Amino acid sequence: MQVQNLGSEVGYELSRKWGYELSQTGYELSCSGQSRVLQVDCKHNDGQEARNAIFISLVKKLLFPLFSVINSNRIRSMYANQTLKPPEDVRGMKILDVNAFRKLVLIPGLRVPNQQTGIAVGKLKNMLLKMPGIKAIAEVSEDDPEHHTHKLFLFDPEKIKSIELFLKEREDVLNSCSINKESVQLYELELEYKNWTHHDVLRAVLPKQYDGVAGFSSVGHILHLNIRNEIMDYKHVIGKVLLDKIPTARTVVNKLDVIDSTFRNFEMEVLAGDGDFVTLTKENGLSYKLDFSKVYWNPRLGTEHQRVVSLLQPQDIVLDVFAGIGPFAVPAAKKKCTVYANDLNPHSYHWLEENLTLNKVKGDYRIYNMDGREFIRTVVKDKLVYHWSQEVQCDRMMRYHIIMNLPAMAVQFLDAFRGLFANYNSEQREKWSSYSEPEIYCYAFTKAEDGEKDVVEQAEKYLGAPLGNEHVVRFVRQVAPNKDMFCIMFRPSRELLFDSTSSQQLAGMTL
Ligand SMILES: C[S@@+](CC[C@H](N)C(=O)[O-])C[C@H]1O[C@@H](n2cnc3c(N)ncnc32)[C@H](O)[C@@H]1O
Repeated sequence: MQVQNLGSEVGYELSRKWGYELSQTGYELSCSGQSRVLQVDCKHNDGQEARNAIFISLVKKLLFPLFSVINSNRIRSMYANQTLKPPEDVRGMKILDVNAFRKLVLIPGLRVPNQQTGIAVGKLKNMLLKMPGIKAIAEVSEDDPEHHTHKLFLFDPEKIKSIELFLKEREDVLNSCSINKESVQLYELELEYKNWTHHDVLRAVLPKQYDGVAGFSSVGHILHLNIRNEIMDYKHVIGKVLLDKIPTARTVVNKLDVIDSTFRNFEMEVLAGDGDFVTLTKENGLSYKLDFSKVYWNPRLGTEHQRVVSLLQPQDIVLDVFAGIGPFAVPAAKKKCTVYANDLNPHSYHWLEENLTLNKVKGDYRIYNMDGREFIRTVVKDKLVYHWSQEVQCDRMMRYHIIMNLPAMAVQFLDAFRGLFANYNSEQREKWSSYSEPEIYCYAFTKAEDGEKDVVEQAEKYLGAPLGNEHVVRFVRQVAPNKDMFCIMFRPSRELLFDSTSSQQLAGMTL
């Protein structure tokens, strides 16, 4: 940080003695009839802020290094009119030029005796300057006699509109800290790219009507966003700024289209960074490794995963039909449930396996890589039969949970439950007469006004039967302005699971 003290000596009345004009060749500075033209790197369309900044720097460097800022009307008006935002002329920048963000500003500063800093911080902390890379309580420069005895408090100019007013309003604080009025001065501070947040930079660069970029999400070191078409020309600046400013970001991507491939992953374009898609993220205290370009992962589902997992108890049987990389399966197995987890995407299957190992899951689990309907008709069926038989033998009630989180189409897989056990004869079924029915958690999207009613209708259509009185429909989240996600929880009836005519009836239904 460069803090230049502009005035400890009352010497010159800048506004009376010196004037400046912008001429064809640069700034013309004149004093008492003498004039001197200084060629400076400044465009004619530079805004007032840039002119002011250059003016201060010229006066300081070329004319007299020390002057009393407070006594100058011109400086006072420059102070009152300045903003801490990046320079105006960065607007419209399509290739990031960090040098264009340099800007000189005037910051009110206060020298506080070392022994009073604690009290002064307590009383003035709300007014201190808060910008990245700037210490609001700075050292007084080494060549200053007060270097060892004082600290320099820098304030936010937006909070001190006038020095006179500040002196008046804070007189009691200054007195209680033995600070005299002359200790309040304006300091010249050079702000640069690193001193602004990504919000500040992008608001300054993008056309005014867009007010920066909308939100972004991050998964491990990958930061992903949906850039609107209107600001697509700025995509590389946006990527670079986010990469520079968000400490965890190493790859910034733009999602090219809505998620609609079978495996629910996105097409994406790397905007900035090393393009590494394999990342590590955390959810509910567990670690997940994944290749973001190949598998589904949504950091907004953490609460839903947690909610379902909280319903599970050790020794429960969990059958996850669309398991992804394991956000239900891994915590369920950690909770000592017996887990059978499946995903059709071979990459999800790979990361699911990695994540079970990564989280040191020791419990009882098996993983599968097949179509969800096939998983229901084979694994779900066989495992239910196996555990029901055990239930009978050890006279213990088990709990079964079948999780179906593929909201765009999970309801369409419900037909697989009809007549699932129709091939078992009545004698075998009789043995399971007291079995515990599985609870199905089927997720669904809806755009209907009455979302609850709509998802129940969707489920019943594919199930080919009513859900029963005990079903529960729970709102999960809004995924788009007119699209909601729900979870339908129900137990398929014994009749539905065992009725041999059910599967035939369904085959005749137009779905
Ligand atoms: C919305 S994601 C949910 C993943 C995970 N349960 C979660 O909560 O993050 C749906 C998953 O279903 C998988 N999938 C898509 N079609 C499938 C199918 N026909 N059979 C099995 N899995 C499928 C996708 O690969 C994806 O991992």
